[in-house]
Formats: sequence, structure tokens, C-alpha cells
Amino acid sequence: MSFHIATSHAQLYIVRRMPTSSSLYEVLYVSTIAPEAPLSVVADIVRKARPGNQERDITGLLIFDGQRFCQQLEGSQKQVLSLVERIRADPRHTDVHVVHHGALATRRFRQFDLGYTSSDDGDLLARLAQLDGQAAMAAFTALLAHVDL
Ligand SMILES: Cc1cc2nc3c(=O)[nH]c(=O)nc-3n(C[C@H](O)[C@H](O)[C@H](O)COP(=O)(O)O)c2cc1C
Repeated sequence: MSFHIATSHAQLYIVRRMPTSSSLYEVLYVSTIAPEAPLSVVADIVRKARPGNQERDITGLLIFDGQRFCQQLEGSQKQVLSLVERIRADPRHTDVHVVHHGALATRRFRQFDLGYTSSDDGDLLARLAQLDGQAAMAAFTALLAHVDL
């Protein structure tokens, strides 16, 4: 009897903890499209990514400037890191450089399984790739003012 009570307390604790925003995690990376990849891969990536992200409760944004990708992904740490490892191994891009990762208080892109936008300024992502940590995240949020969302 006491065992059952202890179990139900533990389950209650887990149910309460899971939806809190404190368990959110985000990753921001910059990469370069593979030299042999046609530009049409971008639409293909976005179309296939959305249902997978929805299933894993991941949201985020992908920006492409014709040469570089910049992607922010947010969700549970386990799901986000597992996805980033798969993305890192994807031959459609190279030089995957994580510029920021860490805890996140509230989602930045709650409305997007994977938002997509393009940038026609090739310098923005090139500069972002040189930054690190909070400076990189600040540059990313600043560049959102220059893209169509
Ligand atoms: C720039 C880039 C961004 C990607 N973003 C996502 C994404 O947000 N979600 C996703 O499921 N796959 C994304 N992918 C595709 C993954 O690399 C991978 O192909 C996909 O998750 C299927 O993996 P699997 O074959 O191991 O199941 C992206 C690929 C690239 C090149």
C-alpha cells in the first residue's frame, strides 16, 4: 500500500515538472550549403523537417542567405541535442558551427515547427558565424529585424 502511494507521488511530481518552461533548451548554429547541393534542397529540408519537429515538440527558425544556413532550435534538451547531431551529420551542408547553446526561459518561435526565411545580405550570417555565446544570440535576434517573418 505504501509503495503505491509513493509511486503516485512520484508520478504527480513528474507530471507537474514536465510542462514548465525551465526545461527548455536552445541551440543556434551556422553552416554552409554543400558545394554540390542544388538550391532546391532548402525547400526539401524545410518540408520534411516540419512534421518531425512537431512530433518532437521542437520549434525554431531556419535562415538561408544563398550560401549559409543559420538555424535556431528549441525544445527539450534531449530532443534538441539529438536533432542537432542528426543535422550535423547531414551531407547537404558542411562546417556546422554551434555558436550558442543553453537553457531558454520561453520559446522564441512558439508559432513555428520550423519557420523559414531568406536573407539577401550575405554578410549577416558570415559575421554571426564569428561570434559566440550571448553575443551570437544577440546578433541573431538583431538580424530578425532584417528578415521577413
Ligand atoms: C540546414 C539543415 C536543417 C535541418 N533542419 C531540420 C529540422 O529542423 N528538423 C528535422 O527533423 N530535420 C532537419 N534537417 C534534416 C536532418 O538533417 C535529417 O535529414 C532528418 O532529421 C532525418 O534524419 P533521419 O534520416 O536520421 O531520420 C535539416 C537538415 C539541414 C541540412
